[in-house]
Amino acid sequence: MIALSLAEIAEVVGGQTHDIPDPSVQVTGPVVRDSREAGPGSLFVAFAGERVDGHDFAAAVVEAGAVAVLGTRPVGVPAIVVDDVQTALGALARHVVRRLGATLVALTGSAGKTSTKDLIAQVLRRKAPTVFTPGSLNNEIGLPLTALSATEETRFLVLEMGARGIGHISYLAGLTPPKVGLVLNVGSAHIGEFGGREQIAQAKGELVEALPSEVEGGTAILNADDPYVRAMASRTKAKVIFFGESGEADVSAENVRLTDTGQPSFRLHTPSGASDVTMRLYGEHHVSNALAAAAVAHELGMSADEIAVALSEAGSLSRWRMEVTERPDGVTVVNDAYNANPESMKAALRALAAMGKGRRTWAVLGKMAELGDEALAEHDAVGRLAVRLNVSKLVAVGGREAAWLQLGAYNEGSWGEESVHVSDAQAAVDLLRSELRPGDVVLVKASRSVGLESVAQALIESGAEGEVSAR
Ligand SMILES: Nc1ncnc2c1ncn2[C@@H]1O[C@H](COP(=O)(O)OP(=O)(O)O)[C@@H](O)[C@H]1O
Ligand SMILES: [Mg+2]
Repeated sequence: MIALSLAEIAEVVGGQTHDIPDPSVQVTGPVVRDSREAGPGSLFVAFAGERVDGHDFAAAVVEAGAVAVLGTRPVGVPAIVVDDVQTALGALARHVVRRLGATLVALTGSAGKTSTKDLIAQVLRRKAPTVFTPGSLNNEIGLPLTALSATEETRFLVLEMGARGIGHISYLAGLTPPKVGLVLNVGSAHIGEFGGREQIAQAKGELVEALPSEVEGGTAILNADDPYVRAMASRTKAKVIFFGESGEADVSAENVRLTDTGQPSFRLHTPSGASDVTMRLYGEHHVSNALAAAAVAHELGMSADEIAVALSEAGSLSRWRMEVTERPDGVTVVNDAYNANPESMKAALRALAAMGKGRRTWAVLGKMAELGDEALAEHDAVGRLAVRLNVSKLVAVGGREAAWLQLGAYNEGSWGEESVHVSDAQAAVDLLRSELRPGDVVLVKASRSVGLESVAQALIESGAEGEVSAR
């Protein structure tokens, strides 16, 4: 964080100081909410959760070097006391980003936020010091904490913004007002909570409504391939840049293909030149993510060549997203168990099909959560797509939704052993351990709550132990 005195912080958040002998002492270290991360110069934010109350760790964090606690009651060590910690944290973030010299880039969308944020960061940091959301910390607490981790040197601050309802993005954009706002797509993630795709578009579009006007330097970066996102152009005063796979977009891709290893390759076109990209990431959905990142980087002054090199070298910074492990026996495990929604399921299945040319392919899939009324149709569609893509074996894992998946596959023409339904992760592991053969490719994917990463982990470990029978 940029250095701020406790007196200034107290004023910014409208708090009372308690047990602070010297209010001119500065917070120089990070602002943390996990007591284990507290160190010299840090400010500890005490949230009172259901299971743990951060205030209980006040003495420990000060012992570890924290300068003070931001909480809702005096704790016997230096503290700034406020009515509401989240509001205070937001106010502090807003104050700090105003003083930063950094350009703020915010992005939202139904699928691919974290992957794209990681790509943007890996491109921009070649040009100048960049701070970005770690993992998926994209809510009203993670976002200000990320913004507060920026320093005087930071030139680019890349922030992922998540929404579970109307008003969420405008709240986040109010805390850390972006200059560049990117909307990736409007899919069906959390559609059950939102109530429908129109509502999702309404909510995601709040990002471009929050941008400064074109004259003030605001830029909206929109996905031309997604009609809901394209339509957001009318909701902003900012300059609009379109990215998309068609040549009509400002930033586009030509000759898109997946290599035999499932990695996308294409010619990147920007308004100032073109350059070839072959990605290290897997799956064609990354083309759209890469174009989005390229549009941001181009807008911030990078050349097509610089962007293409950065995109070609970018790796996966966040775990369990198309994480590919080659077992010594030649089985390839693709762990995409971080999350799942209809769009990402389909993208992952297509990547599996590309990676599995001439090999046996397994799709080990579980439920996609929060789909509301669309749940049955969407699970059915994923089961059918697996068959259409010629995936050799579908293993549907879990309860009712898994049954729908398997039934979709069955109705599309998968008979006998081609698709099976098993009750839980352990049953899937048992089945795969006995059935996998060298050369097979296995995709593992479901919503976070299903916990299928344990299946991927077990498969990777059983390969290391050489337990898998070679038939
Ligand atoms: N552009 C995209 N379209 C569809 N699915 C995507 C896209 N980008 C990533 N995915 C997939 O969506 C899932 C979530 O990716 P992630 O980058 O974590 O998105 P988010 O942060 O929006 O949840 C992963 O399974 C990933 O493979
Ligand atoms: Mg995310």
